[in-house]
Amino acid sequence: MPVTILVGAQWGDEGKGRVADWLAASSDVVARYAGGDNAGHTVVVGEQVTKLRLMPSGILQSHVTCVLGNGQVVNPISLLKEMDDLAAVGIDVSPRRVILSTRAHIITPAHIALDKADEAARGKSAIGTTQRGIGPAYMDKTGRTGIRAGQMEDVEQFAESLYQHIRAANEKLAHLGAQPLNPQDAAQAYLDAAVRLRPYLKDTALFVNSRLKEGARVLCEGAQGSLLDLDHGDYPFVTSSSPTAGGALTGLGFGPMSVDRVVGVAKAYATRVGSGPMPTELDDEIADRLRGTGENFWDEYGTVTRRPRRCGWFDAVMLRYTAMINGFTELILTKLDIMTGLESIRVAVAYELDGQRITEPPSQIEELERVEPVYESFAGWTEPIGGARTAADLPEAVLIYVNRLEALVGVPIRTLSVGPERDQLVELGS
Ligand code: GDP
Ligand code: IMO
Ligand code: MG
Repeated sequence: MPVTILVGAQWGDEGKGRVADWLAASSDVVARYAGGDNAGHTVVVGEQVTKLRLMPSGILQSHVTCVLGNGQVVNPISLLKEMDDLAAVGIDVSPRRVILSTRAHIITPAHIALDKADEAARGKSAIGTTQRGIGPAYMDKTGRTGIRAGQMEDVEQFAESLYQHIRAANEKLAHLGAQPLNPQDAAQAYLDAAVRLRPYLKDTALFVNSRLKEGARVLCEGAQGSLLDLDHGDYPFVTSSSPTAGGALTGLGFGPMSVDRVVGVAKAYATRVGSGPMPTELDDEIADRLRGTGENFWDEYGTVTRRPRRCGWFDAVMLRYTAMINGFTELILTKLDIMTGLESIRVAVAYELDGQRITEPPSQIEELERVEPVYESFAGWTEPIGGARTAADLPEAVLIYVNRLEALVGVPIRTLSVGPERDQLVELGS
């Protein structure tokens, strides 16, 4: 069966873009199903480092058709900027290979202003959003007051809807003490964008299902991470969509029987950007080591916001849970090379909550904030591993660590990423 779903297994930035690019080599269609330009997916091909926000990472494999699905929220200005940047380096972003769902929702300047104003109003309990308007756009979607991409087919009517939407949002902005927006300016900018994006619009559910009937291989590229999922993540410190595997079905519109592979992508340690609980977070020189200085593009600083990412040990309690809710058939472990040189390594195998040992994350945030990780320790390794291509090239300590993670999570780990470049992968076999 032809559908693979790729999901971030932690709090985002696991290396999904890099893994999607690899899986895209053996796919015909790559489709994003959730999120918007809060995502930042990095793909490295030779000397070229590409950061994708809305566009599926399959765009860097020239045989692939890319779909922006109905589950996404799309800022037309960001999308066009991304397309122009890709076109400038010779990548075909024509409607022959990029299609945008008529059912995707539009992020407006009012959504962005509201995201910022909401965060300011939350004060100390701010979520730490990317301030791209994601939450307010999904709120309009569920409130049934959103503007959909399909409305761009009639640009005049689209501009009118936008004008009215900004006027209504200005009341909310005033209530939050934020500056109102000029509806005329916003409508004009979006009108120009609509004219350019119109040729890309399609019913993507029809497209994906007809390609599936023809036997095409479809890769669904998740954004964010399972622990940021609106239902299953650390609510309220989550994003406003469903990045988990279930989100692929609704975010693209196909049935569950088409899926035969659900690939979880996890970092060999843990990172989080934004607020919310992170039981294995470190605040010492090891965190600084994992984070890096910011000089390398792979250092742990947000792709979208450049915020330093919080760093800590691999949390097998969380991973077991995300493996369960997604039904991972395999796990890909990234950034193992970053752990070279750590004298010893820890993994959370359970938590202690009020003196009790627990092996599942509590669903209530107040409890999750109180848990203390129970760690198991491992010997580190000193050898650089970026050149490894088979298990035989890896130090014994790496294999001991990976085998133990596999046993703790209960999902086969078939592939290791040992660097950001296309060929820096080790396939372990099944
Ligand atoms: P995504 O949002 O899940 O696609 O991940 P990001 O692109 O935001 O962050 C992952 C960062 O790590 C990017 O800079 C990648 O190029 C880089 N990366 C991915 N896998 C590896 C790896 O195995 N080793 C190293 N050193 N960097 C990696
Ligand atoms: P990729 O796809 C990491 C986090 C934000 C914040 C929370 C809500 O690159 O892995 P939002 O703007 O979505 O309302 O913010 O979610 N967040 C991410 N963290 N990687 C991402 O995407 C993220 N997208 C959102 O930092 O904590
Ligand atoms: Mg990212």
